[in-house]
Amino acid sequence: MEQVIAYINKNYDSYVEQLKQFLTIKSISTLPENKADMKKCAEFVSDKLKEAGLSKVQIFKTEGHPIVYGEWLGAPGKPTILVYGHYDVQPVDPIDLWDSPPFEPVIKDGKIFARGATDDKGQLFVHIKSVEAYFKSVGSLPINIKFLIEGEEEIGSPHLEPFIKANKDLLKCDTVLVSDTSLFAPGQPTLTYGLRGLSYLEVEVTGPNRDLHSGSYGGAVANPVNVLASMISKLHDKNGKITIPGFYDSVLPLTKNERENFKKLKFSEKKYAADLQVAELSGEKGFSTLERTWARPTLDCNGIFGGFTGKGAKTIIPSKATAKISMRLVPNQEPKKASKLFESYFKKLAPKSVKVKVTDLHGGYPVLTPLNHKATVAASKAMESAFGKKTVFMREGGSIPVIATFDKVLKAPTVLMGLGLNSENLHSPNEHFNLKHFHLGIKSSAFFFKYFAE
Ligand code: BES
Ligand code: ZN
Repeated sequence: MEQVIAYINKNYDSYVEQLKQFLTIKSISTLPENKADMKKCAEFVSDKLKEAGLSKVQIFKTEGHPIVYGEWLGAPGKPTILVYGHYDVQPVDPIDLWDSPPFEPVIKDGKIFARGATDDKGQLFVHIKSVEAYFKSVGSLPINIKFLIEGEEEIGSPHLEPFIKANKDLLKCDTVLVSDTSLFAPGQPTLTYGLRGLSYLEVEVTGPNRDLHSGSYGGAVANPVNVLASMISKLHDKNGKITIPGFYDSVLPLTKNERENFKKLKFSEKKYAADLQVAELSGEKGFSTLERTWARPTLDCNGIFGGFTGKGAKTIIPSKATAKISMRLVPNQEPKKASKLFESYFKKLAPKSVKVKVTDLHGGYPVLTPLNHKATVAASKAMESAFGKKTVFMREGGSIPVIATFDKVLKAPTVLMGLGLNSENLHSPNEHFNLKHFHLGIKSSAFFFKYFAE
C-alpha cells in the first residue's frame, strides 16, 4: 500500500495536468452542437482507461451519446467493483458570469475552475488514477474492476437503463462505487446513503388564440400568465406543504434516530443563509433545513416564460404561458405516479377560460443505500485512512437516476463516495473542484480497493 500511496504523491502534478486536458473538452450533453465534443470526450476517457492499465476497454454507441466501458478481472476469487461516473456536463450559460472561460481550466487558491470540474470529471478521474497507481507501482489490483462512464447523466440517462438491462453479465459486480456527490464540509470524509428522486414536467397554459392588445381586450379574457402564476401559487399551502392530493402517501417518514443523527452534524442555518445572501430560509414547516433538503419531497418552478420578455414595454395579453416544474422525491415515492398526481391536480386548478397541457419530461427514483454493507464499511474506513478523520454519513438532495437501476437490475448496493462540495457551483458559473479533495480522493479510492478486498 505504501508504494501505491507514494506513487500517487509522486505523480499528483501530472494527474492535475491530465484533468486539465479532460476539462477542456466541451462535453455538454444537452446541446446538439456539441455532439462531436461528446464523442471526443468518450475517446479521452477510453484512452485514459487504457493508459491506466485496464485489459479491456470499449466504447459503446447508443442512440444518444456513447458509453465507455473498461475492465480488469485479474483477481479471481476477489470481489468486483463497478465504478460509475459521467463525462457529460451542464451548459455554461450565463456565460458573462464566469471569471474565466468555462473550458479553459485555471487553478486559483488550490481549486480548479472549469465546467465539469466537480460534476463529474474531477470526481470520476480520481478512480482512473488510483487504478493506474496500483498497476504502475505494484503491478496489479487487489480486486476486480469495471468502469461504466456515461455521457447522458445530466439529461436523465435515457439510454443507460436499457444498456444495463441488456448487459447484466458484463456489468455483474459486488458493489458500485460512485463519486458524484458532496462532502459534508471541506476536509470532512463523508459517505452519502440517500439521494432524492426526480419528476420533471413542463406545463403550458393557453388562453386566446393569439396575443391581444391589452387595452382593447384587457378585462375580457383570462390572461394565461396571470392564470399560470395563480395556479403555481396554489401548489403549496401556507406551511410550505405541497397541496397535491395523495402526494405524501408513500413518503417514508424520517426516523427518530435519523433526525438525531442529522442534528449531530455541524450545520449552521445562519451561515448557510448568509452565504446565499437571503434574510431567512424557507420551506416545509416542522423540519430543519437538512431534513427538508435531504429527506422531504419538494416542488419547484425552475423557469417560467410567456408573453413579452424583451427590453422595454409591450402592452399585450399573451396567448400562452409555460413553466418548467420539478419535484424532488424521497423513498418510497415513484416518479411516474408523482407526475400523474401532479397532472390531474394541476388540470383541476385551471379555470375554464384556459387550456392546460402537461408534459412529463424525465424522472428518476430516489434511493437509500444500506449502511451495514461490507462495501460501505470498507469505504468509510478508506476515507478515514486518507483524510485522517472519522467519516460522517449524510443524505443528499440531488439525484443520480441510475443508482436505483443498479440496485434493481444488478442487485448491487452503491457506495456514494462524494468528493465535491455543494458550494462548488455545480450547474452554475465558476464551477470548481478543490484539488486537495482530488488528491485525498485518489488515496481514498486506493484504500477502498485494499479494504474491500480484505
Ligand atoms: N452530481 C449531481 C447530483 C448531485 C447534485 C450531487 C447535488 C450532489 C449535490 C448530478 O450530476 C446531477 O446534477 N443530477 C441531476 C439529475 C437530473 C438531471 C436527472 C439533478 O440532480 O438535477
Ligand atoms: Zn453529476
